Formats: sequence, structure tokens, C-alpha cells
Amino acid sequence: MADADDIQQAKYYHHDVPQRNSGYALKGAGSYDWGMQNRLARVFRPDSGRTVMLAIDHGYFLGPTTGLERIDVDIVPLLGQVDALFCTRGILRSVIPASSAIPVVLRASGGPSILRELSNEEIAVDMEDALRLNTCGVGVQVFVGSENETQSIHNMTRLVDAGLRYGVPVLGVTAVGKDMVRDARYFRLATRIAAELGAQMVKTYYVEDGFETVTAACPVPIVMAGGKKLPEIDALTMAYRAVQEGAAGVDMGRNIFQSEAPLAMLKAVNAVVHEDLPPAQALELFETLRAAR
Ligand code: 5RP
Repeated sequence: MADADDIQQAKYYHHDVPQRNSGYALKGAGSYDWGMQNRLARVFRPDSGRTVMLAIDHGYFLGPTTGLERIDVDIVPLLGQVDALFCTRGILRSVIPASSAIPVVLRASGGPSILRELSNEEIAVDMEDALRLNTCGVGVQVFVGSENETQSIHNMTRLVDAGLRYGVPVLGVTAVGKDMVRDARYFRLATRIAAELGAQMVKTYYVEDGFETVTAACPVPIVMAGGKKLPEIDALTMAYRAVQEGAAGVDMGRNIFQSEAPLAMLKAVNAVVHEDLPPAQALELFETLRAAR
């Protein structure tokens, strides 16, 4: 019989300890419901407020991209060093072991291949399926300034509505059209539109001039997109500057899986993002780990 006598009552009830309201410090997340906060807390580490996401969704418009030909062989062994995986549901179901327990942000837009107008995307995943897959978020491309600007933003707002119904955050990915200038002014516009229209996190490219104005003007966390493969020192420098200038981490693909030593690169990026390791030291770490393979 539980608590038949009240002898220990004062101890068990801790009447002298006020209950604390524990908020989640992630930018913009203060008023979200528990489920939404909990999913975000699986993507952005609560201790650093940052994330190292690995983007392997390229096949949704590029097919078998260099480095992603055999995700089972080349990518699955990296998952232990990743805070969250950005991938399609096809790859998730066919190749990623459910037992890996990796937090997943699901690529949820698509349609055109590299052979067509890329901005002509539609929503490609039902929120019910994203929930079935136990995902921590869904990602959608927004093509601000491109031919199908309104359509792509409408894709995002529909996912935001569905996500709010179930507590699933949306990652708005700022896709840059062929004719757009990649500068801070453009990214301030694109990231702010994504956040204003409900994205709980935004992925965008780094720019050397004024990136801190992009992160400052965006009321939700920004993760830096990697872009085309660079020498390791340049990719580490870009990641370092991005987090020092206000990004809440990275969502990098080719600069990790196309590196000569992807696991070493991932560990170096982790040190940059979570430990503020400067790029020169991160490169040293990369070289040491690569040599020790
Ligand atoms: C394009 C995307 C990609 O599909 C992918 O995630 C890009 O990763 P990376 O540029 O780091 O290889 O989101 O905007």
C-alpha cells in the first residue's frame, strides 16, 4: 500500500524547493508546445544550442551524387558523429537502420530533377508519414526571387500548418536561383521571409560580408549550408565564422561526404561547432585523424 503513513511526507514533497519552469533556450522557441521543443532539442543540443547536421538529401534532384552512391557503406558509419540527419524518406526507409536512433529532418519537398526548373517543387511528404517515421522536423526549399517563388513559399506554409498540428518543426531552406546574387542582402530577405511565414529553423549559405546581419535579423536558428566541395581548411573556416557570427550550427553535405576522410572531417566540424575550435586547430585535428585511419 502506497504511503500508508505520512512519516516521510516532508521529505518526499520537497515543500521548501520551488518548482522550476525549465525553458528551452533555443532562439525563438520559447512559446512552442512541448512536442515541438522536444523535437528541436533532439536536433539542437541543449548544452550548446548548436547542431551538426549531415545533409545527404541530394539524390532527390541529383540522383546518385558523388559520395552518396552507397549510403549504406559510406554514410551509415558516420552517424555516431552527427546530431541530426537531413535525408529523404526513401533513403531513410531503405538504408538507415532504425536502431541507429539518429534524429532525422526529412526532406519534404521535391519534384523537378536537375534537368528541369528546380524551383518548380511541390510538397513531397505527407506530415502523417513524417510522424510515422518519427522525424524531428521536415525540410522544404524556398526559392525567394525565383520563377516559382510563391509556390515554394506556399509549400512551406502548408508544411508549417501541418507541423504545428503535430509539433513537427519546419526547416526552410533558402535555395538560390541561377540569376540571384548571393549576398547578405538577399539572404536577409530570404531567411526573414521563411521565419516570418513560420519556419522554426532556416538553412542558408554563408557570406563573408555581413553574415552576422543575416543571423541577427532572423528570429529563429540558422544552420549554415555547406555548398560545393571546398578544401578542408576553407570549409572549416566557413563553419567557424558562421557559428561565431550567430549560426546555430551547420547542415553540411558535400564538404563532409566528398572529403578524402569524411569521418575525420565530421569530427573536425563537430569541434568547430560545439567547442569553438578555431579553423587552424580544426585542420590539425582533421590531419591527425586522417593519418590515424
Ligand atoms: C540544397 C540542399 C541540398 O539538397 C543539400 O542539403 C545541400 O548540401 P551541401 O550543399 O552541403 O552539399 O538543401 O539547397
